[in-house]
Amino acid sequence: MPETIVKLQDVAVFQNENLVLNNIDLEVKKGEFVYVIGKTGSGKSSFMKTLYADLPLKQGTGQVVDFDLKTLKEKDIPFLRRKLGIVFQDFKLLPDRNINNNLRFVLKATGWTDSTKMDEKIEEVLNKVGMKTKGFKFPHELSGGEQQRIAIARALLNDPELILADEPTGNLDPQTSVEVMKVLQDINQNGRTIIMATHDYALILKYPHKTLKCDGSKVFEVIQKAI
Ligand SMILES: Nc1ncnc2c1ncn2[C@@H]1O[C@H](COP(=O)(O)OP(=O)(O)O)[C@@H](O)[C@H]1O
Ligand SMILES: [Mg+2]
Repeated sequence: MPETIVKLQDVAVFQNENLVLNNIDLEVKKGEFVYVIGKTGSGKSSFMKTLYADLPLKQGTGQVVDFDLKTLKEKDIPFLRRKLGIVFQDFKLLPDRNINNNLRFVLKATGWTDSTKMDEKIEEVLNKVGMKTKGFKFPHELSGGEQQRIAIARALLNDPELILADEPTGNLDPQTSVEVMKVLQDINQNGRTIIMATHDYALILKYPHKTLKCDGSKVFEVIQKAI
C-alpha cells in the first residue's frame, strides 16, 4: 500500500470568516503528481495555504505528511514546513546574496551546521535542477526560469515528503514554463509527491496528471476532456 501523504475529510477553507471551499475530500498518495486548477479567486492558493498551515484548519479533518492539521499548534508549524518544499509564483530569492548563500541561509535556518555537508547538499540540489554552475550568480543575474529552478532547488534542500507549488510558472513565458515543468516532472519521477496549483491549461495537456478543480466553493476531480 502506498503511503498517504495528504488526507482531507470534509474540509472547509476560510479566508477570515468567508467560506472559500467546502466539503473537500482528498487523498494523495506518495509519488503522485496532482494539479489544482480553477480560475483566479476560486481558492487554489487558499487550498495550498491550508496544506502548509498558513490558514488554520477550522472545519473537517486533515493530515499532511504525518501532521494532523486539526491539532497542529503554532510551534509545530516550522516542523511541518520542514517536511514540505514550497514554491511560489514569485521566486522569493534573497536579492542581496548569491545563489549558494541563498541556499546556505535556508540550511542554517533549518538547523544545518556542518559546512562541508551544506556545500554537498547545495551542489546536489543545484545539480537536480540543472543549475550547478550558477551558485555564484546573484538572483538578478538569472532569468525568470533560472530563478524558479533555484527556488525549486531550495524547496528540495530538506528532502521534503511533499512539494507544494502555487502557480510556479505563473510569471514565465510558455517555453520557460515547459523547462520548469520538466524539472518538476523529473523530481516527481524520482518518487517525490507534488501538488501544483496552476491555470496554465497548455501545461496540463502536455503533462497530464490527476487534476482537481476549484469551482463554486467545491474541489472535484476532472478528466482531461472536461477541462
Ligand atoms: N488574505 C486574504 N484575505 C481575505 N480574503 C482573501 C485573502 N486571500 C484570498 N482571499 C479571497 O479568497 C478567495 C480565494 O482566493 P485565492 O485562494 O487566492 O484564489 P486563487 O489562488 O484561485 O486565485 C477569493 O475570494 C479571495 O478574494
Ligand atoms: Mg492563487
